Amino acid sequence: MARVTAPVRRRGEEHDIIHRTGLESPKRSRSMGERILVTGGAGFVGSSLALALKRTREDSEVIALDNLKRRGSELALPRLRDGGVLFCHGDIRQPGDIEAAGPIDWLIECSAEPSVQAGYEGDNRYLIHTNLLGTIHCLDAARRFDAGVIFLSTSRVYPIAPLRSLPLETRNQRFELPAEASGAGWSCHGISPEFPMAGSRSLYGATKLCSEHLVEEYVDMYGLTAMIDRCGVLAGPWQMGKVDQGFFTLWAARHCLGGPLNYRGFGGEGHQVRDVLHVDDLFDFVDLQMRDPDSHRGRLHSIGGGPENSVSLRELTDLCEKATDRKLEIEAVPDTHPSDIPYYVADNRQATESTGWAPRRSLDTLVDDIVTWIRQHRSTLAPLLSPESIGSAAEGRS
Ligand SMILES: NC(=O)c1ccc[n+]([C@@H]2O[C@H](COP(=O)([O-])OP(=O)(O)OC[C@H]3O[C@@H](n4cnc5c(N)ncnc54)[C@H](O)[C@@H]3O)[C@@H](O)[C@H]2O)c1
Repeated sequence: MARVTAPVRRRGEEHDIIHRTGLESPKRSRSMGERILVTGGAGFVGSSLALALKRTREDSEVIALDNLKRRGSELALPRLRDGGVLFCHGDIRQPGDIEAAGPIDWLIECSAEPSVQAGYEGDNRYLIHTNLLGTIHCLDAARRFDAGVIFLSTSRVYPIAPLRSLPLETRNQRFELPAEASGAGWSCHGISPEFPMAGSRSLYGATKLCSEHLVEEYVDMYGLTAMIDRCGVLAGPWQMGKVDQGFFTLWAARHCLGGPLNYRGFGGEGHQVRDVLHVDDLFDFVDLQMRDPDSHRGRLHSIGGGPENSVSLRELTDLCEKATDRKLEIEAVPDTHPSDIPYYVADNRQATESTGWAPRRSLDTLVDDIVTWIRQHRSTLAPLLSPESIGSAAEGRS
């Protein structure tokens, strides 16, 4: 892409777009504040972080770079504009696109093909080129500009078979780890980075794990100020939940807008469990890291909703019914997708002990925030979150 203009631009809604022409970088015009580049900045996490960064650092210039691949990411453009965030239509597979947004002080890497099911069928090049080569391009740009990096990773770096082998018990409506038991990297507090890493994890997980290793190498080899946030499920308003990614929003959307839902996998009982972190709680953590980069340089943090904010699909159904006053028929589909896992809850203790951070928003707040958002933007969101748009049988996966 040589030159890009605003993809969504209506009369009276002009957005400051960074026009790129080859590798030239715009000159820094400000004498104060930082320049912060959020890659994937029109996505769910990227746009939420970009807007929060601008809100909390008014004198900084925040730039959202995105190729708008994710359906619905175009809806972020007016939000970014109204929040004072610049938009750069670019692709992290192209090193020049990232460098054209520089110079920068920070790069927050939120662009990805984020579905764990990506690559199981058909072409896997987009996944690998974005999630792996794209990381290298981001790290090289950060190195060139001497910028700090926060890399958003995923709990899907943990291998599938050992997670499936955890000694789970079924209690009430959910799988649970035994209260007194523990093993390498797991306990009733959740899964920690000490969990054994041997085994396969999906191409999504593998590209993210390779990226984590590359971040660590760039820290050691080039002195980059980079850090890794290994996140479990994230959720919140403006997540374009779909069948294979964003199950929490999808569940709430189906309860608001109608459409089929399945309890798929692990016998079709809906007992599989995830912890869920409100995207605003993620921002609180990123904010801490950016205010004290030296303490976080080279560190990997496991962060998520933790045991308090964990939920099974059955329990999520109850939460959604309560918030929407609507009951859906949910079909049981026993087959388990090869990438699916029965249980993941992040052990947050190390992050809390070292920073004082802990999730502050409850699951009730999260469901309420998402339901309110869908109701407020119903006509815009209905075509995007409808069964026709995102699949006919929404399933419970990460
Ligand atoms: N949402 C979650 O539950 C979750 C959990 C753990 C980790 N993460 C990680 O957080 C990050 C953000 O995820 P998200 O939920 O916001 O996903 P998202 O799909 O909403 O956002 C990703 C954005 O990246 C953009 N993008 C894709 N390929 C690109 C490319 N080649 N160049 C530039 N932009 C590109 C997409 O258009 C999209 O706007 C990802 O790295 C993901 O792996 C997400």
